[in-house]
Amino acid sequence: MKIYKIGLIGCGRIGTLLEKDKLRGKPCTHAGGFKALSNTKIIAGCDIDHSRLKNFGRHWGVNRLYKNYREMLHQEKLDVVCIATWTNLHASMVIEAARSGVKAIFCEKPIALNLHDGRQMVRFCKKRNIPLIINHERRWDSYYLKAKQIITTGRIGEVRSIVGNTLSSEPGKHPTRTHGGGALFHDGTHLTDLLLYFGGPVEWVSGHEVRPYGKKYIEETACGMLGFKSGALGFIEGGGSRKYFNFELDIQGSEGRLLIGNDGRKLYLAKKSRRFSGFQELKQVRFPEPKKTINPFEGGARETLKCARTGKDGISSGADGLKALELIFAIYRSAEIKGRKLKLK
Ligand SMILES: NC(=O)c1ccc[n+]([C@@H]2O[C@H](COP(=O)([O-])OP(=O)(O)OC[C@H]3O[C@@H](n4cnc5c(N)ncnc54)[C@H](O)[C@@H]3O)[C@@H](O)[C@H]2O)c1
Repeated sequence: MKIYKIGLIGCGRIGTLLEKDKLRGKPCTHAGGFKALSNTKIIAGCDIDHSRLKNFGRHWGVNRLYKNYREMLHQEKLDVVCIATWTNLHASMVIEAARSGVKAIFCEKPIALNLHDGRQMVRFCKKRNIPLIINHERRWDSYYLKAKQIITTGRIGEVRSIVGNTLSSEPGKHPTRTHGGGALFHDGTHLTDLLLYFGGPVEWVSGHEVRPYGKKYIEETACGMLGFKSGALGFIEGGGSRKYFNFELDIQGSEGRLLIGNDGRKLYLAKKSRRFSGFQELKQVRFPEPKKTINPFEGGARETLKCARTGKDGISSGADGLKALELIFAIYRSAEIKGRKLKLK
């Protein structure tokens, strides 16, 4: 059996540290996802923070530790590199990894800080035939896969509208836009990715945002109304200054409704009303639970190995990650011009 050699750049929260959170389902990090597979070995790690690097080495039994990612990429003969550093570093690291000859790159979301970087990453990897996989982890979540199946098999009819929320607290002490944007950017990328996954291509957007601290700082709230090419409508909200975190999609079709998010999933179908003669109403039915569930981080690691083996893009490619980013920036752009409708290519 071939053992795939894995290296991790960025030994922070999503790289490794979140495994220590007692409440989270495991694995919940890059290192944990790859460790769960029998045909991989994490052989090297890199971080500029010495104590994080040492921690990572101790936790996963890895002794090839680097402070310089270029050195790691060129000294180790890695099959797969995971990039779990801040978003502004993704582009240079992905490009250097592609140059180093790895077989696949598993990179955190959002794909990049801006569209220029994102496009360059996708182009560079494509030119060298190196699959780039973006960690929009719900793409490998068994329940989201089931939701997709419910939609594509027409159980809720034709999708007419999708409302998506990624609600969270206010941005704190006026953080600047160094790391890209606010809630619509960081958490919202999961949402825009799923909107495209469930609703298909988007034709136009109209954005609105609340930036109480000014343009230099990230938004408190950003929302977008959008039109899918299919004719369906969408509405998403990121941030919203809430005292809770809520990630949820409400997908309403011509014959039913599907709710899925961090709080679970619900399915409703149109049935003859028991309260009004001649009416149809929504009745909750059992959500068809998947027979076998796969942890999304293990799913992401499996997908990456599949891409490394075949040399082909998978279900959450760099191009998909870029589309999710394009949608976010279109909403920001439209918000800047008072919500004027913008067409997407
Ligand atoms: N998929 C998800 O659900 C999810 C969750 C959290 C974060 N993220 C994403 O993951 C990325 C990292 O976020 P985080 O919360 O883990 O941040 P973090 O700060 O905890 O970790 C980032 C790590 O990168 C290291 N680093 C910085 N520059 C480096 C360099 N030049 N070489 C090597 N290491 C370097 C830092 O020292 C730090 O340890 C971001 O893009 C974020 O959006 C994704």
